[in-house]
Amino acid sequence: MRVVEVIERKRDGAKLSAEEIDRIVLGFTKGEVPDYQMAAFLMAVVWRGMDDEETAWLTDSMVRSGKRLDLSRYGRVVDKHSTGGIGDKVTLVVAPLVAACGAPVAKMSGRGLGITGGTLDKLESFRGYRVDLTTKELMTQLGRIGIVVTGQTKDLAPADGAMYALRDATGTVPSIPLIASSIMSKKIAAGAHAVVLDVKVGAGAFMRTVRQARELARLMVAIGEAHGLDVTAELTAMEAPLGNAVGNSLEVAEAIATLRGDGPADLRDVVLAAGAEMLYLARRARTRAAGRAMLERAIADGSGLAKLRQLVAAQGGDVTMVDDPSRLPRATRLRTLTAERTAYVARLDASLVGLASVRLGAGREKKGDPIDHATGIVLRAKPGDRVARGEPYAEVHSSGGSGDAEALDMVGRAFTWRRTTVRPPKLMLGTVRSSHGGSAPLPPPGASLDP
Ligand code: URA
Repeated sequence: MRVVEVIERKRDGAKLSAEEIDRIVLGFTKGEVPDYQMAAFLMAVVWRGMDDEETAWLTDSMVRSGKRLDLSRYGRVVDKHSTGGIGDKVTLVVAPLVAACGAPVAKMSGRGLGITGGTLDKLESFRGYRVDLTTKELMTQLGRIGIVVTGQTKDLAPADGAMYALRDATGTVPSIPLIASSIMSKKIAAGAHAVVLDVKVGAGAFMRTVRQARELARLMVAIGEAHGLDVTAELTAMEAPLGNAVGNSLEVAEAIATLRGDGPADLRDVVLAAGAEMLYLARRARTRAAGRAMLERAIADGSGLAKLRQLVAAQGGDVTMVDDPSRLPRATRLRTLTAERTAYVARLDASLVGLASVRLGAGREKKGDPIDHATGIVLRAKPGDRVARGEPYAEVHSSGGSGDAEALDMVGRAFTWRRTTVRPPKLMLGTVRSSHGGSAPLPPPGASLDP
C-alpha cells in the first residue's frame, strides 16, 4: 500500500484500517514517510475526522512507535493530566498530596506553549530542579519516595512528539481525534494504571464548549479503557484563570500556599476533586468522599508539603525555596491596577491574561524560546467579586521588557465590570468515567486504606 493512497482515502472521507494507520505512523517514526506527507494526512484528519475505532488504532500505533513502561512492581500507579489552562498549577499541589496519601504518582509533564503554562517550566522555578530523568532514574525515585514529576522521555510515544511539532506548525492542532490520541498515547506508554484527566473548557482552553469537551473526554476515557486503564475525565471551567497567580514562580508560591492550607478556593476545589478521584482509582480510598478527607488531612498535617519538599530534593532542586517561597525568582517591577469606580467583576478573560503573561516573558511565543520565571500576574479579584473604588484588582510583575506596556493593557482589558451583583461562575462542569473506574475498588493485599 502506498502512503499517498492512505492520504487520498482519508481526504475522501474513507474509514482507514489499522494497517493503513500503522503504515503512516510507524513509517513516519522510522523516517520513511516525509513531513509533507504526514502534514497532508493530519490536515485530512482535521477535515474528515476519525471514528472511535480509527482513533483507537491511531493511539495504538503511536504507543507502539516506542516503549511502554511497566510500573506494576510499584503497585497501582496513578497519573493526572490537564488539557492545559491559564494559572493551572493543580499538578504541583495534587501530585504531592496524593503521594503523601500512599498512592504512587508517576507524572510526565510538558512545557508551556502559547498562552497555556506548563508544569515543567513551573517546576524549574526551583533552582536546579531536573526535568530530564532517565527511565531508570524515574523508576528508582518512584520506588524510593513514591512520586516523580519529570519530562517525557524520548523513547515513549516518539510518534506523538514528532507529529505534535508538525501539527503546531501546520494548523492541525484543533482536532478531537488528534488531541485524544496524542494525550492518551503518552499516558498509556508512561505505564500508569489509572489516569485522571482534567479537561478544561472555556475562553482559555482548547475546548471552547462543554459539548466539545464532553466529546473529547468520552473518547479519551474509551481509549484508556480499551488499553486496560481506569480513566476519569473531569470537565472544569477555564473562562477565568484558575487561582490568583499566573506565571511560573508566582504559581509555585501559590501551590505552596495551597499545600499549607492557604490557597484560593477554586484551586483547592479542583485539587480536591482530582485528588479524591486519583485516590479512589488507585484503590487507596473506598469512596471519593473518603479520598477527599485523606487529602484534607494531608494539607492539615503538612504531609503534602513535606512530599513536595522530598520531590524537589530528589530531583536536584533547591528545597530552601519550598520552605521560604520568597527565595523563588522575583520580578524587579510591580504595577498595581486599581478600580476607577466600585463594581463587580462580571467576566475575566483567561486568554487575555494568558497572552499578557506571554508578553511579560512568562510563556513562549514559539517552541524553544527562553522564559522568565519571575514574571506574571496576580489577580486580586475574580468573577463575582466586588472591588471598591481605589482598591487593587490585579498586579503585573515584570522584568522591564519591551512587552510590559502591552501586557498591562491586556490585563486591564481582561476584566469586564458590572454595577450589580454577579453570581460566581460554575467551576466543575461534569465527569466522564470508564465503566470499571466506577466499580467498587478492591484493596490490594496489605494496602493501608482510609477508615
Ligand atoms: N496536549 C497534548 O498532549 N496533545 C494535544 O494534541 C493537545 C494537548
